[in-house]
Amino acid sequence: MIKIDEQLKQYGKNHKVPITLDDTLDFLIKTINKFNSKEILEIGTAIGYGSIAMATNTNCNHIDTVEIDSSRYEIAMQNIKAHKLDKKIDLFNVDAMQYIKNTDKKYDFIYLDGPKGQYINYLPYLINILNPKGIIFADNLYFHGMVTGKIPVSRGCRAMIKGLHKYIDEIKSNPKLATQILDIGDGIGISQKK
Ligand SMILES: C[S@@+](CC[C@H](N)C(=O)[O-])C[C@H]1O[C@@H](n2cnc3c(N)ncnc32)[C@H](O)[C@@H]1O
Repeated sequence: MIKIDEQLKQYGKNHKVPITLDDTLDFLIKTINKFNSKEILEIGTAIGYGSIAMATNTNCNHIDTVEIDSSRYEIAMQNIKAHKLDKKIDLFNVDAMQYIKNTDKKYDFIYLDGPKGQYINYLPYLINILNPKGIIFADNLYFHGMVTGKIPVSRGCRAMIKGLHKYIDEIKSNPKLATQILDIGDGIGISQKK
């Protein structure tokens, strides 16, 4: 059983902040531990629930996490400090694209959980900042069944769903990656850099 902050989880539910689903989080932790990933980047911090869980339940050295929304960033900062994880987790209040284009850091594991329609645009930069054998763990690839055709694509989601289809096609065919798509949570893509 992994250790999670139940209060944070409840806060997410009460304030309608999207946080990682239980089975996805469980599998995320297992995957980080399986690959013994040390340097982690999370795209989409929200209130810090996922980064705190990764820092608490894995042997990683460090987590960088990126959040565009200033009020969520502030709340995440408070939560990370309350868990005394501010040395292990660095939080950036910035657009993910700006971060991944400009950072000179390299990562062993990227938890991709930000704007779904942007995954395809992020991908070349993510591959660039990933160490060989590093992992991109992308969440919500099914987007509640809209990607798999289980439920109709709502009008406001069309561009995002198109972007997710492109992302899935690209990670399956990109020669730099070996990819598995898994029926866990809302659909997970695990891509390892060759
Ligand atoms: C699903 S939530 C992340 C949940 C978090 N990973 C967790 O486990 O608790 C997605 C987050 O991505 C943030 N986001 C959306 N667009 C972004 C962007 N362009 N750059 C960085 N963060 C972004 C949203 O504000 C939101 O808080």
